[in-house]
Amino acid sequence: MLSRRLLRGFGILKYEARFLSTAVKKEAENEKVVFEKKRPEVFELDGRKHKTDDVWNLSPAVRHLLNRRILREQSNPLNLLKQRIINYVHQTYRKAGNRSPLFTICENEPRIVTNFQNFDSLLTPENHVSRRPSDTYYINSNECLRAHTSAHQHSLMKQGLDAFLVIGDVYRRDEVDRTHYPCFHQIEGVRLYSKDELFGKSENPAEIFSKNEERNKEKQGVHTYDAVRVAEIQLKEFLENLCDELFGKDCQKRWIDAYFPFTHPSFELEVFYNGQWLEVLGCGIMEQEILESAGVRDKIGWAFGIGLERIAMVLYGIPDIRLFWSKDSGFVSQFAGKTPEDEVKYKEISAHPQVIFDVSFFLPENVQFNDMTSDVYDVIRTIGGELVEQVKLTDEFENKKKGKKSQTYRIVYRSHEKALTKDEVNFYYGRMITISSTPC
Ligand code: PHE
Repeated sequence: MLSRRLLRGFGILKYEARFLSTAVKKEAENEKVVFEKKRPEVFELDGRKHKTDDVWNLSPAVRHLLNRRILREQSNPLNLLKQRIINYVHQTYRKAGNRSPLFTICENEPRIVTNFQNFDSLLTPENHVSRRPSDTYYINSNECLRAHTSAHQHSLMKQGLDAFLVIGDVYRRDEVDRTHYPCFHQIEGVRLYSKDELFGKSENPAEIFSKNEERNKEKQGVHTYDAVRVAEIQLKEFLENLCDELFGKDCQKRWIDAYFPFTHPSFELEVFYNGQWLEVLGCGIMEQEILESAGVRDKIGWAFGIGLERIAMVLYGIPDIRLFWSKDSGFVSQFAGKTPEDEVKYKEISAHPQVIFDVSFFLPENVQFNDMTSDVYDVIRTIGGELVEQVKLTDEFENKKKGKKSQTYRIVYRSHEKALTKDEVNFYYGRMITISSTPC
């Protein structure tokens, strides 16, 4: 029977359980879901407590995603890609004297931000669609889950940083398809230049700022053409070189004019993949008003935001954004143990369930553990063929007194065509045992 507590979760205490619609009943059966759905008075995230109010709109599903932190999972492709980008940027951009990296990496910014951070500090208009509760996850009327890493630009500049990358998970109430998911991951890059840094030290350097000029398609009113041109070249070079590093020099890319409230001029970079142009990042010359309000008076800056999933899908050939969240060992095992610089091409796994068998045996006398392993892999592949998805050595044991060694392997079977039964797999398993115990 449904308890009163459960019913209160739906705010329909006065009805008996039997009057509930089937859909509601079904959900009510799962007590956990019901309670998560109820708005908590206080929501704690990243070590901070936040009071909620009626604007709260976090679904149980998004709360679940918040707990996972896939960017920190060692062999998640997003983590590999993130590390590859950091390694490249650190190697390529160094402080004068080459002793230390130029860009500071900020990976631990709190994910709940104020409306000021997410919108106002970035000059997002009052009536912009991104502010709607149908687009953004709100904790209360003044705080939300960051919808982009740009939310940290203002405070990091205010802290005095001139060159930084902000990396993290961001949340949007977006459409649902193969390339959109309520949580995705971004790398934000910001670089500020003083006059000397932009033009080089010279007797007669050009100026960053101009008086009485008009804002037009190419530049903001406060900037000179020279400054915008140089900063734009630096920005585009940075991003094109990064793309070449990731995709190789042959990859086709194109710049598209774009609009963001926080940059002008603004651009998007698209990469040609699988017969279509994919947008992989947005960028531009930062609005000078943002720098000023962060206390930066004498510099010009550029900013970019890269969508990590988009790049990882192209780079590793991952066809569906949901796969980044997969715990299926058919997916995870393809990235386990890889280094960020390894070339990995994902092989699509089957939608049918896995069937798992363990096999243990004694090694022939005088055969070493290592020598056995590749033979075992070969035998298993030979017999199981395409049905074998993974083979893993799971245990080794040596009984020194008796001079006997044994190994255990876990074999994961999975068909691309159908759901395998234990009986079918047993057939292969039986053959494997017979063959492996037949003396050569
Ligand atoms: N914040 C933008 C987005 O999420 C990307 C961006 C960052 C664009 C920095 C310009 C400058 O789409």
